[in-house]
Amino acid sequence: MQKYAVFGNPIAHSQSPFIHGLFAQQTGLQLSYEALLAPLDDFAGSLQVFFASGGCGANITVPFKEQAFALAGELSERARRAGAVNTLIKLKDGRIRGDNTDGAGLVSDLLQNGVTLAGQRILLLGAGGAARGVLEPLLAQQPAELAIANRTVKRAEQLAAEFADLGPVVACGFDWIDAPADLIINATSASLNDELPPLAPTLIKPGHTLCYDMMYGKDTTAFNRWAQLLEAAGTLDGLGMLVGQAAESFYLWTGLRPDTAPVLQALRDRLAGS
Ligand code: ATR
Repeated sequence: MQKYAVFGNPIAHSQSPFIHGLFAQQTGLQLSYEALLAPLDDFAGSLQVFFASGGCGANITVPFKEQAFALAGELSERARRAGAVNTLIKLKDGRIRGDNTDGAGLVSDLLQNGVTLAGQRILLLGAGGAARGVLEPLLAQQPAELAIANRTVKRAEQLAAEFADLGPVVACGFDWIDAPADLIINATSASLNDELPPLAPTLIKPGHTLCYDMMYGKDTTAFNRWAQLLEAAGTLDGLGMLVGQAAESFYLWTGLRPDTAPVLQALRDRLAGS
């Protein structure tokens, strides 16, 4: 039986065991996947015990992604760019490889929903860890322009400078944005508190602009409610990204690509009933 886990603090509400349980069922693999609460002051110790006792791979969530980045014995390019690791893989030689599947999960969810990214004007809201984690995979889709807008403009400028070699990325503050975008992705943590960044309504071209909130919840997020009010062409929440990043991790561990659609539906039903 192959052993996997997700580490975080808090971790009780993690949907990852449910998602990976369905992936295992679907692919017929015998594996265990647990949610493990790591103490805030000893994540490294918990990880060491897990891998020493036969762990094959792990997902890492808040607040340990940067620590996992520092602890990994080697890193994928996208994890290096993200500055954070959400997936650890135990290699045959015993070393632990760090990867980051968050951005790939977002991109695959967008593409599965029929959203075009190549040649589009994308506006990414936020310049924290969540935004950083998706920049490399988004730029790999060759948008016409990717604008990073942040409350603290300096952080957006730093991020844009760091990723400028990968594509046409620019920085701005919320007050500078005036032209509508084809796609707006909310990577701020504002929705966590049911808050909305101070966004101009002119950002949305009714019937054209698509909006994606990386957050999700039982109810529509504040950002998606705003987008719907302004008649955005469509709104998507981050539940698809959650399943997408899990599928990418599962692939890194097992070499198998599960079908995400039925798992996403099962997860929506589960959240609606909770
Ligand atoms: P995460 O890892 O979730 O990205 P973070 O690194 O703390 O968390 O970044 C949070 C992001 O949400 C930042 O871009 C933050 O803006 P600042 O850099 O100006 O702090 C943004 N954010 C959080 N609450 C916000 C709000 N109410 N309005 C606008 N932006 C907000």
